[in-house]
Amino acid sequence: MSWQDVRFRDRVGPLVEYLAAQGVIDRSDWASAAWATGLHEVPRHVFVPSRAYAAAYQPGESSRPIDRKANATDWWRACYTDCSIITQRDDGATAPDDPTGTPTCSLSAPGIALAFLDLLDVRDHHRVLEIGTGTGWTAAMLAWRLSSRQVVSVEVDPELADLASENVRRAGFAPTLITGDGAEGMHELAPYDRVHVTCGVREVPYAWIEQTRPGGRIVLPYMPAPTAEQGGLQLALTVLDDGTAIGRFHGRAGYMMLRSQRRQQGARPGGGDGRAGSTRFDPRTLDDLLGRYDGAVLMLAALVPTIAIASSQERLADGWGCRVHLRDLAGDAWAVCESGAGAEFEVVEGGDRDLWDEVQAAYFAWVRAGHPGRDRFGLTVTPHEQTIWLDAPS
Ligand SMILES: C[S@@+](CC[C@H](N)C(=O)[O-])C[C@H]1O[C@@H](n2cnc3c(N)ncnc32)[C@H](O)[C@@H]1O
Repeated sequence: MSWQDVRFRDRVGPLVEYLAAQGVIDRSDWASAAWATGLHEVPRHVFVPSRAYAAAYQPGESSRPIDRKANATDWWRACYTDCSIITQRDDGATAPDDPTGTPTCSLSAPGIALAFLDLLDVRDHHRVLEIGTGTGWTAAMLAWRLSSRQVVSVEVDPELADLASENVRRAGFAPTLITGDGAEGMHELAPYDRVHVTCGVREVPYAWIEQTRPGGRIVLPYMPAPTAEQGGLQLALTVLDDGTAIGRFHGRAGYMMLRSQRRQQGARPGGGDGRAGSTRFDPRTLDDLLGRYDGAVLMLAALVPTIAIASSQERLADGWGCRVHLRDLAGDAWAVCESGAGAEFEVVEGGDRDLWDEVQAAYFAWVRAGHPGRDRFGLTVTPHEQTIWLDAPS
C-alpha cells in the first residue's frame, strides 16, 4: 500500500458521519454499526479504476469524470463521498468517463450499498451468493463481515470479473468469484442463506429461490417495467418451506439491469403509423406519478406488468409541455400522449392493445384503493409466476 492508501481511513470518517446523519448508519444498532466499521476496513478506492465517472448524490458534489493521474484530489474525494462510480459503459465499448455511453457497471454509492447490506441481515455462519460482482467492492465487504470462504459472487462480464479478482486480492480478500450468468445462480455451491443481488431485476429468477435455504433471504433492486429502468425499489424476499418466496418493498434503488432483462432497444415508441384518439386524462398526471409515488408505480406494475412508461419535457405545438410514451415490453403496442392547453389531449396508439386505457384504469385502481404507499405492497414468487399484492399475499 502507498502512503495515500494507508491514509484512506482518514477519508472514511467524514463519509461515515454523512451516512449516519442521513440515517443510513444507525450506531445504536449492532449490525448497522458493523457495516460502518466495514467502510473503515475495506478500502473502497482499491475498487475504483484510475479513470471513471462519479455520479454524485451528496449535496455539494457534482457528477463528473474522475482521473487519478490528472486530478488525484478529486479522484480520492469521489472514492470517499456518497457517489456511485460508473466503471463501465456499453459493456466496455465506451470509456467509463465518457457520459455519452450507457452505464453497464458501477460501484454502488456507499449509502445504497449499506442499505442493501443491512437489509440482507447476515449472521456470522451465513453463506452468501452475490449476483453482479462488478469491480468487487460489495463482495469484499461481505467477505470482511463473514469470511472469504462464505461468499460466492457471480459476474457476467469477463473483463469485470478479472478486474474484481485482482481488486479483492489487493484488498486482502479471497471470496469465490465466478464468471457466468447470475440469473442461473450458482447451483454447484448451493444452498445459500442469503442472496445479495446488485443488478436490477424485473422478474425474479426462480433459480435464486431454489438455491436458498428455507427461511433464507434474498435482497434485490426491483426495477418494475413502468419506471422504464429509471428507478426501482429495495425488495427483501424470504424463502418459504414450500419453495415460494414472499416479501415487501423498502426504500428506493436505481440499478443497472440484469443483462437478460435489459429492455430491448427497439423502435422509439411513437414511431410508425398509429391510431389517433383523444383523452381527458392529463398525461402530466402520469409524469408526476413516476418519480413521486412508489405505490402508484407498484399498482401499475401489478395491473399492467409489461408496460414501460417514459415521459419527457419537450417543446410542443403550443409551448413547453410533457410527452408521455407507453410501450409494451412483451409486444409491439405503444402509445404517445402530449399535454396541451385544451380540455382534451391527443393520444396516438399503435399495436393491438389500448395501452392508454389500461394505464389509466390502473391509475384509478390506485386512487380507489386510497393511494396506498409502497410499504403496503409486496411480491410473491413461485416457480411459475410472480405476483404483486396489496396488504396481504392472499
Ligand atoms: C451495479 S453493478 C455491481 C455493483 C457491485 N456489486 C459493487 O460492488 O458495487 C452491476 C453488475 O451486475 C452485473 N450483471 C448484470 N447482469 C448480470 C448477470 N446476468 N449475471 C451476473 N452479473 C450481472 C453487471 O455486469 C455489473 O457488473
